[in-house]
Amino acid sequence: MLKKTIFILMLFIFSNATFAQEDLIINTYNRPSTSLSGNWNYIVDPYENGYYNYRHEPFDLQATPSKSAFFTNSKQESPSELLEYDFDSMDTIAVPGDWNTQKEKLFYYEGTVWYKKSFDYVFMEKQNRLFLYFEASNYKTEVYLNGKKLGTHVGGFTPFNFEVTNLIKDTNNYLVVKVDNKRSKEGVPTLSTDWWNYGGLTRDVKLVETSPTFVQDYFIQLDNYNSNKIKGYVTLNGEDKATKNIQIYIPELNIRKNIVTNINGKATFEIISKDIKFWSTKNPYLYTVHIKTDEENITDQIGFRSIKTKGKQILLNNTPIYLKGISIHEESPITHGRGSTLEDAKTLLNWAKELGCNYVRLAHYPHNEHMVRLADKMGILVWEENPVYWTIAWDNASTYANAENQLAEVINRDKNRASVIIWSMANETPTSPSRNQFLTKLATYTRAKDPTRLISAALEQSDYNGNKFVRTINDPFADVVDILSFNQYIGWYDGLPEKCSQISWVIEQDKPVLISEFGAGAKQGFHGDKNTRWTEEFQENLYVETLKMLENIEQLQGFSPWILVDFRSPRRVLPKIQDGWNRKGLISEDGKKKKAFFVLQNFYNNKN
Ligand code: GCU
Repeated sequence: MLKKTIFILMLFIFSNATFAQEDLIINTYNRPSTSLSGNWNYIVDPYENGYYNYRHEPFDLQATPSKSAFFTNSKQESPSELLEYDFDSMDTIAVPGDWNTQKEKLFYYEGTVWYKKSFDYVFMEKQNRLFLYFEASNYKTEVYLNGKKLGTHVGGFTPFNFEVTNLIKDTNNYLVVKVDNKRSKEGVPTLSTDWWNYGGLTRDVKLVETSPTFVQDYFIQLDNYNSNKIKGYVTLNGEDKATKNIQIYIPELNIRKNIVTNINGKATFEIISKDIKFWSTKNPYLYTVHIKTDEENITDQIGFRSIKTKGKQILLNNTPIYLKGISIHEESPITHGRGSTLEDAKTLLNWAKELGCNYVRLAHYPHNEHMVRLADKMGILVWEENPVYWTIAWDNASTYANAENQLAEVINRDKNRASVIIWSMANETPTSPSRNQFLTKLATYTRAKDPTRLISAALEQSDYNGNKFVRTINDPFADVVDILSFNQYIGWYDGLPEKCSQISWVIEQDKPVLISEFGAGAKQGFHGDKNTRWTEEFQENLYVETLKMLENIEQLQGFSPWILVDFRSPRRVLPKIQDGWNRKGLISEDGKKKKAFFVLQNFYNNKN
């Protein structure tokens, strides 16, 4: 009891302290912005020599930081002056991008790399404000502009921003960013994962200019229980945010809804319309929505759809839907590094469409915004996941705060995307009282922040009453989720594919079931008999047997096999077969389809 009280107390203290940067600006996707992408100078700093003095004291905590501090971007001012770094004479690296696949010597590198970008900036309007927006940076990022510390961000897959209005100069601004992708036990994710720990400024960095009082945040969605009602809120940021007029303007629905903000700059609304075309996988209809104030007009493309469960069914717009899915890692089929571009997203989602999918599981962390924006346009439903993966430090309060913050950031970014239907709290986490508490708290937080979507997690299945041939879900978190999802590898980690025919399932929960993973490894082009591992025939057979086995699950509403494309993993070292790649893809890293691709395609094309 004492331990539990201390745990809750620590939770409260930490959750507000360590991860607080500016409130996230929503919809920068459609806001005028200046990209800082391109080549940046960089310094590899494994000993963090540019961050700590020789007494391991951070330079950025010194009253007058020494010129040895890299964030000062100092220059030698006389031939006799001792200065042991110079950004402008250093090699450059591309942003966005990971350092591992850009620089051979950094392929396995985990540690600190410093980035420096110099730029000029002219405001569009003199009285405007300016924000520095990072779409993502892996993993711990310290940001400095013109020698001033802006702040720190922890988490490799979600956006963050800092206001720089009073720091920016017309010319010769220097932005210095320390990125450290070292893994840690307390991290989210933690020490061990089955994907490459790509480091760096992996997504775009941009300057977002706003009017003095601007639209900071909004949530505009269809009511899940009244399909003639659009409801939500708008929040302004700025001195002039209180009692401010805002208009929600949806031309195609002939809607002009005028609302007024309260003292905190927030206005809520409900709009009734009988003419709404609902967004669906067959007809992904997006409305152009304007949020107008007398200072700015923000537009967004929003689809209106309802998503809920009823017993074992998943209802999209009150109609049962079967999720024909595939799991995807955010790896570029073009650069074979961390994906980030619209091109990457198009290639991956077009392959999923070709497979016959109406659903994708974006594993195991939030992917870039292109993926969900494109899924909105293509009518592909999306599962988004928080990187709470395997053995997280459940009793560590700052680990919890970190996990909650990453969830908050992806929900903030994507809550207006019709395609996103499921928030996943975690993947393959071992049950324990503190784990159950950790995940339950995350789920409660998520439900409060976004009551319009479904909660799930990739759980693990186990023996039923000790019988290995009867599988069940024995996890208290199964009572918390809306959709019961689990990974199963019968036929790969557990026996051979023929074992599938001996398996039965006892799943007591009256909830929809999704298989979040199943699969087998195959080296593309390696052929042989169906019991020879790593052949395309083995993988093909595994799919055939698994699809038959899963049909026995009465609550089954779909699955997302592991995985669309082979991906890099430092855990996969079998020579001539894996060579640093997880080979469970249905497509090889160079885009060649394996036999199992067509087994699943055929299944989906024949599944209504
Ligand atoms: C796990 C895990 C994946 C991993 C996969 C595999 O279930 O969730 O991240 O890559 O299995 O072993 O290939």
